[in-house]
Amino acid sequence: MSDQPVDKSRRTWVAIACGAGAVGGVATAIPFVSTFQPSERARAAGAAVEVDISTLKPGEMITVEWRGKPVWILHRTPEQIASLAKTESQVADPKSERTQYPTPEYARNQHRSIKPEIFVGVGICSHLGCSPVSKFTPGAQPSLPDDWQGGFLCPCHGSTFDMAGRVFKNKPAPDNLEVPPHMYLSDTKLLIGEDKRA
Ligand code: FES
Repeated sequence: MSDQPVDKSRRTWVAIACGAGAVGGVATAIPFVSTFQPSERARAAGAAVEVDISTLKPGEMITVEWRGKPVWILHRTPEQIASLAKTESQVADPKSERTQYPTPEYARNQHRSIKPEIFVGVGICSHLGCSPVSKFTPGAQPSLPDDWQGGFLCPCHGSTFDMAGRVFKNKPAPDNLEVPPHMYLSDTKLLIGEDKRA
C-alpha cells in the first residue's frame, strides 16, 4: 500500500493515502476491505447493494462498498439529529444546493436523508478524495473547534463535516459528502445505488 496520485476528474478514492477505513472513531487503519459486505459478483458488476440495517443501533455506523466506493450508513441518535440545527449556519451549503455532486431530491433537507435517523453518504472527501474519519464525540479535541457538535474530520487537509456530511465553511473541501442514490426496500432493508425500482 502506497500513496497514489489523485485522479480528480474521477474523484478516485485514495483512502490508503489517508489512513482511512477507520470506523466509529477508531484511529488505527483497519483494512477497508474487512468492512465490505456485498458479494464479489455484485461488486464487480457495480450493481446496487442491499444492506440489512436491522441490527444497526443508534450511534453506530457501518461501511459497505458500492461501485468501489465506501458508503457509510449511520444510525444517528436524537442528539446527533439535533446537532444539525446548530451547525446549519456554520456549513457552506446547508441546503445541499450545489450541483457538482447533486444531492438526490429526497435528501435535500437538513438531515440529508430519507429518514432523519439514517444517513447514507459516500465516505470520500470532496477535496482530494481522502476518506474522512468519524468524530462523533462533541466538544473540544485536537484538530476540531471547541464547539464541535460531532461529525467527520478529513485528516488530509482538515476539512470537517457535520453529522449530515455537510462541509463546514472555509475548508479545502468544496462540497458536502455525496449522498448516493438509495431507497428502502423495507423498514430494515436499504438498497444502495438505485432509487427508482418499480
Ligand atoms: S482530501 Fe479531505 S481535506 Fe483534502
